[in-house]
Amino acid sequence: MPLLSQLLTGRRPPLALHLPAHGRGRGLAEGLRALLRRPPGSWDLPELPEIGGPLEPEGAVAESQRACADLLGAQRCWFGVNGASGLLQAALLALAQPGDRVLLPRNLHRSLLHGCLLAQLRPVLFDLPFDPASGLWLPPSPEHLERVITAALAQGPLAAVVLVSPSYQGLVGDLSGLIAVAHRHGLPVLLDEAHGAHLGLDPRLPPGGLACGADLVVQSLQKAAGGLAQSAALLQGPGSTIAAEAIERALLWLQSSSPSALLLASSEAALLELHSPRGRRRLRQALDQAERLRRRLTALGLPLLETQDPLRLVLHCAAMGFSGLEADAWLMERGVVAELPEPGCLTFCLGMIPPRGLQRRLPRRLLELRAALAGPALRFERPPLPLVAEPERPLGQAWRGRSEPVPLEQAAGRLAAEPLCPYPPGIPLLIPGERIDGPRAQWLQEQRQLWPDQIADTVKVLIE
Ligand SMILES: Cc1ncc(COP(=O)(O)O)c(C=O)c1O
Repeated sequence: MPLLSQLLTGRRPPLALHLPAHGRGRGLAEGLRALLRRPPGSWDLPELPEIGGPLEPEGAVAESQRACADLLGAQRCWFGVNGASGLLQAALLALAQPGDRVLLPRNLHRSLLHGCLLAQLRPVLFDLPFDPASGLWLPPSPEHLERVITAALAQGPLAAVVLVSPSYQGLVGDLSGLIAVAHRHGLPVLLDEAHGAHLGLDPRLPPGGLACGADLVVQSLQKAAGGLAQSAALLQGPGSTIAAEAIERALLWLQSSSPSALLLASSEAALLELHSPRGRRRLRQALDQAERLRRRLTALGLPLLETQDPLRLVLHCAAMGFSGLEADAWLMERGVVAELPEPGCLTFCLGMIPPRGLQRRLPRRLLELRAALAGPALRFERPPLPLVAEPERPLGQAWRGRSEPVPLEQAAGRLAAEPLCPYPPGIPLLIPGERIDGPRAQWLQEQRQLWPDQIADTVKVLIE
């Protein structure tokens, strides 16, 4: 039983700075900890009348969803047991009809791409500002989104706009401004707030999506709250006019017929605790620690990127002359497990209760890392992408089409039959049905050097 053995005997590394944000149990919501102390399995119950499920009008789950909606200022709340992924897909199915065009940012999580495939939507991808020093996409400004929507509407109507905020690295732009732009064009906004359940709950954090007017908001409750993996919530904004029946129908299409009571309880406990005085106190303490750590690292001359979420610490590896993937491998061997290695950066998730010894251990390790790997600063090429682009073939047709693998250097002019998607972060660099032009083929070859084990040297293209 390799998995059980690993889970039973695997040792906690000295510094686990990865997701889930409960940090291997330390920051689990208290109600959930109490549940897990009960005899194993006693809580694994079906949708008994007194319990119900996310789509039942009566029972404890319905009551809990209502309480969460009231507490968060949402019109409705649905718990999910297939992560933010499952709820984002349901939201897309609720928002648009087969054949509709939906506007999505280039830093979309792959679950949204899969949602477009399932819903038979036509994704219209929009380019984002790019930082050549870190290699990261940056949040768009409202003016940028205005240009994007205008360009996309020039080619046909849109059914909805999807925004991602915060980014995986904790970057947040002018979310109210962005949502207002979409609304001025009469477009509903689905917000992927997988990393932002805690936003707006402390003055040091920017406001969250509901406060900024998003129509639908999806939160992953293991990424910025004390829930187990796969617990998530879909929230409907107070001003949203999307029919609840359409949302529930889409949830029905995708939801297991036996949603796990444990994961539903995890969603309840994570949300209610985060929004309670105790949860806010914990969050304040975690933010205090994060700020102390940032000050110390900065005083030591270690380059950190500015983020709007202090619980995401982004080490700017490129500024020190090495890649985030190299840094991750080096640190992992020394017991420091980060969350997100990328070519220019390494992101650490400090979690709801940052690990003991963090202030002492991490600065020391990062100084050693710099001494071991430092070199001349790296810079990154801007992705050669148009402001808005639509795949030439329907996603599902291209992904299932007759294809052949070709070396990346011979891919120019061909239509992609599969996504190229380093994971994590799970953001596709190419999507099925997109034509690979010369500059894109060149850029993908460069990306291969930057993500050596994650991008193959061949890509599947359609046989036309
Ligand atoms: C931006 C973003 N959205 C959605 C998801 C999917 O979340 P989950 O893992 O809860 O399905 C992720 C996961 O990493 C993500 O980074």
